[in-house]
Parts: sequence; structure tokens; C-alpha cells
Amino acid sequence: MSLPGWPARVAVVFLVSAGLAAPASGQYAERSALFGSGEPGVDVSGRSVKNPRVRAVHTDDPTLEGGTAHLIAKEPFLAYQLGRNLNFREFRERDGTFSVGGSQLLTGLGNLAGPMPDDTTAKITAQNQASCTACHNQPYGNPGGGINFAKDSGRGRNSPHYFGAGLVEMLAIQVRTEILHQLDTDRSGWISEAEAAASNGTLLVVPTPGATPLDFGDPRIDPATGRPQFNNHIKVWYVDARGQWVDDAVGVDGVNTRGYNLQLQVWGWGQGIERELLDEETGFLDLEGGAAVNPTNRAFLWDPWDTHGGLEAFDPTSLDDPENDGVSTPSLVGAIQFPATHQPPDKGPAVGGGAGFAPYSLGDPDNDGYETEISEGDLDLAEWFMLNLPAPAFAGTPAEYDAGLALLDGWDCTGCHVADWSIRPKTRRPELQGTGMTQGGGPSVTSSAGGRFVGDRRLFDVEVTWDDADGRLEGKLVPLYDLQPDGTHARRFGGFEVEGLFSDLRQHELGAGFAEFAYDGSVQTLWRTAPLWGVGTGFPWGHDGASLSLRDVIARHGGDAEASRALFDAAPVAAQEALIDFLRKLVLYDIETLPCDVDGDGAIVEHFVVAGMDTGPERFNAEWLFTTPVQIQGPVINAEGESLTSFAATNLSAAYGLELTYRRDTDGDGWPDVWDPAPNQAGFKNGVND
Ligand code: HEC
Ligand code: HEC
Repeated sequence: MSLPGWPARVAVVFLVSAGLAAPASGQYAERSALFGSGEPGVDVSGRSVKNPRVRAVHTDDPTLEGGTAHLIAKEPFLAYQLGRNLNFREFRERDGTFSVGGSQLLTGLGNLAGPMPDDTTAKITAQNQASCTACHNQPYGNPGGGINFAKDSGRGRNSPHYFGAGLVEMLAIQVRTEILHQLDTDRSGWISEAEAAASNGTLLVVPTPGATPLDFGDPRIDPATGRPQFNNHIKVWYVDARGQWVDDAVGVDGVNTRGYNLQLQVWGWGQGIERELLDEETGFLDLEGGAAVNPTNRAFLWDPWDTHGGLEAFDPTSLDDPENDGVSTPSLVGAIQFPATHQPPDKGPAVGGGAGFAPYSLGDPDNDGYETEISEGDLDLAEWFMLNLPAPAFAGTPAEYDAGLALLDGWDCTGCHVADWSIRPKTRRPELQGTGMTQGGGPSVTSSAGGRFVGDRRLFDVEVTWDDADGRLEGKLVPLYDLQPDGTHARRFGGFEVEGLFSDLRQHELGAGFAEFAYDGSVQTLWRTAPLWGVGTGFPWGHDGASLSLRDVIARHGGDAEASRALFDAAPVAAQEALIDFLRKLVLYDIETLPCDVDGDGAIVEHFVVAGMDTGPERFNAEWLFTTPVQIQGPVINAEGESLTSFAATNLSAAYGLELTYRRDTDGDGWPDVWDPAPNQAGFKNGVND
């Protein structure tokens, strides 16, 4: 990136910080010390995790200071930064990483775990990383992607970026709502045999008004299997006559199971088709595989923390399913979870909660002596960060965008790579009155019921556009909340146009070019339409990361994409090049150094002053937006006599709320005083023992 017009001193600082920000290690350790302090934990770039690791306490009551309800309502940018730091942090042995010495299946580092659909062959190498950013790290210090790890086949699976993760999750839940809206005519929150039979055999969802509807498959129950024939991106579970989830059911049998429920398993490249297998333990048939990996951001936190890091989350939120229909009440951040298909590993017993604040767990599934390795509050904050993550951008002019889109349209790439989606505004009055709501056993209207949209749940949008004159991307922070007199950031839950996602959120048969020869000898050719946003930065490409050029990954398209690829092949080279050029401009960027108007004055100033200090060019660093913003150390002279700016924090405790009642950790053992049985005696395992 060129830095026209930046004063030399500031430019030097940024070059220095860019240099420091790319060490061999892919993760962020804790570095809170000031430059010149003589301590090891110094980072003048200010990008490392500064706050000590203290388990966050989930609360419902926003008046409990430092609890997650308080942070999200009153200190939402601090909550975002704490969530960022959970996503980027290198967890340590003292946090309970891995299960060294444990006696469970997942024991020790780098073992094989998890059966493939054949029920025997191991699916992954588990217990292999201590941070999300170990794999999601290009560009470094962002929710990027790029790294392969040993999963499913000898070629491994490539980690996608998760910029815009909140938008993707909201669309997935919205598609589910639209499906229920069409099928669930009695508004019970699930689909009965009769409702399924009433369908005409297609399920059309319109991504944005006026766009071609997308068919998500046939909701009718196949008499041979007892199962609907949805697109493979949808995961189904089976329910009884009251809509209650029946564990291990493999279809609707008309006796024990009288209908089904579903979610759009939006995250992951694809796991082939569901297979029926004999469970040797129970002697009954079971359904294995299918769809993709996870349906929600919260699940894509506790799952990898467990699988890769050996950190087991205790999360009553994910299991809070009063109707027992397999769908939870919404998390604090606002997303329903799906306990029928996804359950976090630590099931308690719970102890230590109080009025308005949640308990922690004495459970220790991996037997390493560390309790509540990830707390319900940690998941709230990390989910909040993911919800609000900025989306990828287009590094070109609107005319260039339109020209590229026209090429994709012309070759029918957009038959799958659907450009735009609309997030529907919140439905104020659920359309459920007088509609047999209680039939499904549901006492009240929750968002698990059909027909109700929850709106854009984010706090803010970062609108990123190309400044052609300066030849750079620029951001603008757009608040999606109204500040109340009591300091509450009331989210608006309005509509939002998601432009340039380039996915239909469905899976397709892509033929031999993309075939995965799995460890267990199965062959997979069914993949979700990879969203193309960020694809220009997304090196390498494909589920296996085996394509080292965009041209190669396009050439691998066959199966349902055969005709489209043939059009691309037949096009003049200049048009092909123009398309690849367009794809290269669908980029990620470094969120925290992107020039960005954060104060809404319509300008990006070169000397943005925060807490009395010149922080250089205005940029989106959440620390500037805390109620007590971070005050940086400022100008310092390094050992070579050069002057530069230290972005270390001089007011760490006040800015990061380390003394708030529900965050205070007097003995620094990661257990907040409100949970710690011995708040003055360090004990990393359970507050007492080391
Ligand atoms: C060992 C490497 C590794 C680690 C550690 C890891 N991931 Fe991933 N992640 C992957 C891979 C590979 C995939 C794709 C898996 C698949 O579909 O088969 C993925 C997929 C995802 C996706 C879905 C993206 C998409 O476009 O479908 C999200 C979101 C995600 N990871 C978030 C996280 C978070 C949050 C953490 C930490 C709590 C994490 N990951 C830790 C490798 C990793
Ligand atoms: C039938 C649906 C379909 C059509 C049509 C289609 N694609 Fe794809 N595309 C996919 C799927 C599915 C994947 C993911 C492949 C995988 O998982 O490895 C993909 C992957 C890609 C990728 C790589 C994304 C990544 O993150 O690795 C690019 C680039 C791409 N497509 C471009 C195109 C272009 C250009 C066209 C038109 C010439 C096109 N696609 C037509 C379904 C389609």
C-alpha cells in the first residue's frame, strides 16, 4: 500500500509496525508492557493481545459491571476487542490447552481423532494448535485463511477466511427462517409430515428482491428413506408429534418421529452426503456425515477450540432449549444455536453463579485438571467479534465492478456465485397470532419459530470502498445503533444489503476436477459454492488449497458447473484475463491499519488524536472507541536513535476494564474473583491449584 501524503515520521512507524507484525509464529501472545520497561512483553506496534486472560462471566443483567451483558450493551467496542483477543490469542498450558496427561480419546498432541463416515478411519489430526490464528492468519492479525491442516484426506483442507462472518451467519439463519415460513404453515417451529406433503417439491428462496429464486430442494418425505431431499447444505433432524427432537432418529417413521427440523450448515467446504451406518454400540442405524461443519459462529468457536486446542467450552447458552426442539433460545449476541446437531463438550456440573451472572463448570472432559477452559462469557465476546467483523472489499472502481459482474453473469458463474443478498429488517410483530403456536409444545414465541426475522444484529458496519485518486481502500465506520442516555448502545436491527458475497449458500456436484479422495477411500465431489468475496487474497484456492492460481481453480470446475466453465474456456483470452483481474480485486485487507473514518466527520485525518495522543492516520482500531480509550505511549526513541511511536497502552487497566467487578482477577490466575474460590492465591487449574 502506498502512503501518499503521510508525514515521514508516521510512515516510519507503520513500516516498523508492519515489520514487527509478521514473525514466524502465527499467533498473538500477551504483550502489555511499555517500551523501555525492560520487560519481555513489549510490542510497540500495539497489535498484540494486551489484556491478561480472565475467563469472561456471562450475565443477563447489564448493570453487573464487566459481565458480558454489560460489556455488549455499554462497552461494545471493548467487548469486540476482547472477542478479537480471544480469536487471536495464543492459549497456554496454564489456560488448559491440549489434554496432556488426560485419559480421554483426545489425549496429547497431534493425535488422530474423530471417525470418518465409515465409523473407523480417523478424520483429523486433533490437538494441534493453540490459537484460531494459527490457521486463520493471512493477512496476519485478521480472520484470514490460507493454511491447510490434516482433515478428511491426505491433501488436507484449506482454512477459508472469515471476514464478514456475522453477515454469513445472519443469512444462514434467515434462509432457515424463510424455509420455515414457507413450510411451517401452523407456525409451530418445525415441519410435520402433513406440512411436508403439502409442498410442491421445490423450496424457493429469493436472495434479494428481484433476483432469481434459489431452489433449496424437495421438502417432501421420501417414503423409502423417511427423509426430505434438501440441498446438501441443509442439515435435518427428526422430531416427535410435539416437535421434540428424537436423538439418533434416521428419518420420519410415522410412529416415533412425525416430522423434522433443520438448519443451514453454512460453514465449511462440505462433508459429502449423509450416510446410513450401523452403530455397533447400539445396534441401530445412524446418520453420519453430510452438510458441512458448523451452523453458527458460536459453534465455530467452541468446536475448533476443543478439536485443535484441547480447550473444552462450558456453554449453557448453546444447550438452552426449553422446547426441546433442537433449537436454542438466542445467545446474548442474538444467534439461535442447534443443540440437536451441535453440543459443546463440557456439560458441567455447574457451580458458582449468582443473581444475574452465570456459573462456571467443574467438568473436565479431557481430564487435564483445568476447569472451564472456555467460559460461556468467553463465547459471548468472541461471538460478538465475529458478528461484527467487517466484510471483504472490492479494490477497484464501481465501473470495474460492474464490468466484472457482467462477465460472471454472462458465463453463468452467478448461477452459483450469487452476488447479492438482503438481510431483512426485524419483524416487529411476529405473524403468529392465532396460529396454533402451542402445538409444537412451545410456550412462547422464540426466533426458532417460523416467519420471524431478527434483522441485522451488528453494532456497526465498516463500509470499505476504493479511492481511485489515492489508489487505496478506505473505510467508514457506520454505526447501526443509537446511544441511549444511560450509555446503552441500542442496536437498530434494520435491513442490510450484502453486496458481492458471490455464493448461493448451497452445495453442488462439481465433478472430477474437485474430487477429494478421502482417507477412508470415499470420493467426494459435492461442495458448497465458495463465497468469492476476498478470493483475490485467498491464496491458495479450493477446499484442498491445491490450486495455486485463480485460472487453475476455475479450470477444475466440472459437474453442474461444466457448462459455465465451457463458456469461460470458449471466451477470448482478453475476457478471461479481465475476469481474473476482477477476481484479484475481491480482496481482504488489514482491518486495523486500513485508513478509516471512525468518528463520522467525513474525513480520514492524518493525525487522529485519541486520549491526547497523536495516533497517526485515522484507522479502525476498536481501542480508540472504548468508553475509556486506550492512551498510547507515543513518541519514543529506539536503540538506534530513531524516533517512532509506541502504541503500547499507558492506561491498560482503565481502558480494558480490568478492575470492573466481574472482570477483576486479583491473583492473576485467569479466574475472575467472583468465581475464584481463592481469589488471593493463584491457581490456574480451578482458581486454587496450579
Ligand atoms: C488447525 C487449523 C485451524 C484452526 C486452529 C482453526 N481453524 Fe477454522 N478452519 C480451518 C479449516 C481447514 C476450515 C475448513 C474446514 C472444512 O470445511 O473442512 C476452517 C473453517 C472455519 C470457518 C468457516 C469458514 C467458511 O468459509 O466456511 C470459520 C468461521 C472458522 N474456521 C473459524 C475458526 C475459529 C473462530 C477458530 C478458533 C476458535 C478456528 N477456526 C480455528 C482451520 C482451522
Ligand atoms: C454449479 C455451481 C458453480 C458454478 C456455475 C461456478 N462455480 Fe465456482 N465454485 C463452485 C464451488 C462449489 C466451488 C468450491 C470448490 C471447492 O470446494 O473446492 C467453487 C469455487 C470457485 C473458486 C475458488 C474459491 C476459493 O475460495 O477457493 C473460484 C475462483 C470460482 N469458483 C470461480 C468461478 C467462476 C469464474 C465461474 C464461472 C466461469 C464459476 N466459478 C462457476 C460452484 C460453482
